[in-house]
Amino acid sequence: MCWVFGYIGAPGKAAREVLAGLQRLEYRGYDSAGICVINPDKNLEVIKAVGKVNNLKVKTDSIDFSTYHAGIGHTRWATHGGVTEANCHPHLSQSGRFVVIHNGIIENYAELRDELIAKGYVFHSETDTEVTVHLFEDIFDGDYLSTMTKLVAKMHGAYGLVFLDRDNGNQIFGTKKGSPMVLGFGKTERYISSDYRSLIGLIDDYIILEDGDIFLVTLDNYTILSGWQDADRTRQIVGEDEKVVELGDFPNFMLKEVFEQPRVLEDVFRGRIDFSSNSLHSDTLEHIAMLGIKKVTIVASGTSYHAGLLGKYYLEELSNIPVDVVVSTEFKYKKKFVSSDELYIFVSQSGETIDTLDSLKIVKEQWGHVFGIVNVPGSAIARAAGQGLFTRAGTEVGVASTKAFVTQVACFLFLSLYLGQKNGLDYRKYREIIDSIAKLPEAISSILLSNEAIRKVAEKYANSTNFFYLGRAHELVIAMEGSLKLKELAYIHSEAYSSGELKHGSIALIDSDFPSLMINGGGILSPKNASSAEEIRARGGPVIGIIAKDDPNKQVYADVIEFDPLISELNPFLEVVILQLFAYHIANFLGRDVDKPRNLAKSVTVE
Ligand code: AGP
Ligand code: GLU
Repeated sequence: MCWVFGYIGAPGKAAREVLAGLQRLEYRGYDSAGICVINPDKNLEVIKAVGKVNNLKVKTDSIDFSTYHAGIGHTRWATHGGVTEANCHPHLSQSGRFVVIHNGIIENYAELRDELIAKGYVFHSETDTEVTVHLFEDIFDGDYLSTMTKLVAKMHGAYGLVFLDRDNGNQIFGTKKGSPMVLGFGKTERYISSDYRSLIGLIDDYIILEDGDIFLVTLDNYTILSGWQDADRTRQIVGEDEKVVELGDFPNFMLKEVFEQPRVLEDVFRGRIDFSSNSLHSDTLEHIAMLGIKKVTIVASGTSYHAGLLGKYYLEELSNIPVDVVVSTEFKYKKKFVSSDELYIFVSQSGETIDTLDSLKIVKEQWGHVFGIVNVPGSAIARAAGQGLFTRAGTEVGVASTKAFVTQVACFLFLSLYLGQKNGLDYRKYREIIDSIAKLPEAISSILLSNEAIRKVAEKYANSTNFFYLGRAHELVIAMEGSLKLKELAYIHSEAYSSGELKHGSIALIDSDFPSLMINGGGILSPKNASSAEEIRARGGPVIGIIAKDDPNKQVYADVIEFDPLISELNPFLEVVILQLFAYHIANFLGRDVDKPRNLAKSVTVE
């Protein structure tokens, strides 16, 4: 959600390093930000600002940080308390000695707060976080690690907590449960961060902390405790090819990532499908195929959930395996029937979504077969799943998931073909799909060439306040994903519906100011979609057709965005790119921040 960052190193560098760290991965959460730096004379400097990290940076411009050698910083995605400067982290203890930043939620904060208030502690924010620093001070026994173990015993919830002590600024200490955190080791500097990728170029190696770990880092040493024992955590080397992601010539990351889709769709199948022999290769899937899976449950949130819905179509149609798809928040608390012939697939771009991660852990505890479809190697879900497919989309910075989505769907297609060839999938269908997969990157490139035409249609409807996104079967899922893109990027209300279902009530909303998008690239349900479009048109509603170039029913649409279709199973890959660009252009036209839409965060590490 938010971002925690810590630094110990050379005098004069602390503020610069912490601010740069926050700015590098600001997209994870960005409603407000703050830093605290310390110098050997026990001076603490705390600066906070609402809004982007740049607002914070501007506030620090006139401050002399030349003696400050250590610091912590935070970008906040508010859970408890409004987006105000008082609620920004870091928070100070009563005496001003201890300082904390926090990613997560302290669920029993109200109770702890009441106890502390009764003891005379005064709170300056509405956050759940502030209890942690007062409590730490209240129970401080002279030893950071020992006090931290006592603090952890009193807190419920999810947290990545990082502390500084004004009286000893040579160390940073903290703990984590549920929220991601790494320790990074540079040549002469030490870092703490929510993600090692914010440290690329600064460190040689890093340690991914596990839940329950309590840590203390100095320049020369570090200690990690897990359940009172010294924990032996592996130091992982930063790969030579890992680079900080640059924008290049694109105006924002979203557009860059949309345009990367032809390439990532080559990467995701590389080494997995051999197009010269039409063969599939994956040791992991060979292992899965041998389990004799009779049922699949897919668990994910948001766009990853939509990828799971398409996964259901592919797995059921091609592998002949029944599939349930459940959003993570619902799955976590519902009754589960885990059995040895069922496979549980957890889909997550970030690999850190707390509800998906917790759901996975629950299934694992019941000895269920778990499988991850994840973009970030080393992420919590990738590690906890232990087996799965990496989506190979590369870092996705734009909050709206685009290239990650198409690679997630590609992984489902690959999995379905793999299991399908063992489960009696018709060979002609198998060949037809593989031949179409080979054409996918080029087909997406040609969609990208119609960007300008998509922009024109999008801008024509940019001032509408409501949209329906309609389709059937695979295309209903694309309608859902397109509708989510419009909501999150342009802040326009839209709903996705099965085009056949509209007449059962919601068509009452249609008038000349209520446009609908019909996702209708061809296939057996195409005439049904066209009839639904006619029904809307008859009631004065404009329908934008996302249709194949040779669609015989073109005349029913007020506007069309046409494309050269592939086979109907693969058209969703093309249609979603059109809808990504459609939402992008409306958002741009309305002056929205497409990389960092309001109220959102890239990685959702709180419940
Ligand atoms: C979609 O554009 C959003 N970024 C969001 O719905 C996202 O897909 C969801 O939060 C799940 O994230 P994950 O894939 O990282 O688990
Ligand atoms: N719960 C804390 C708050 O609202 C931290 C939220 C976050 O992870 O950014 O301040």
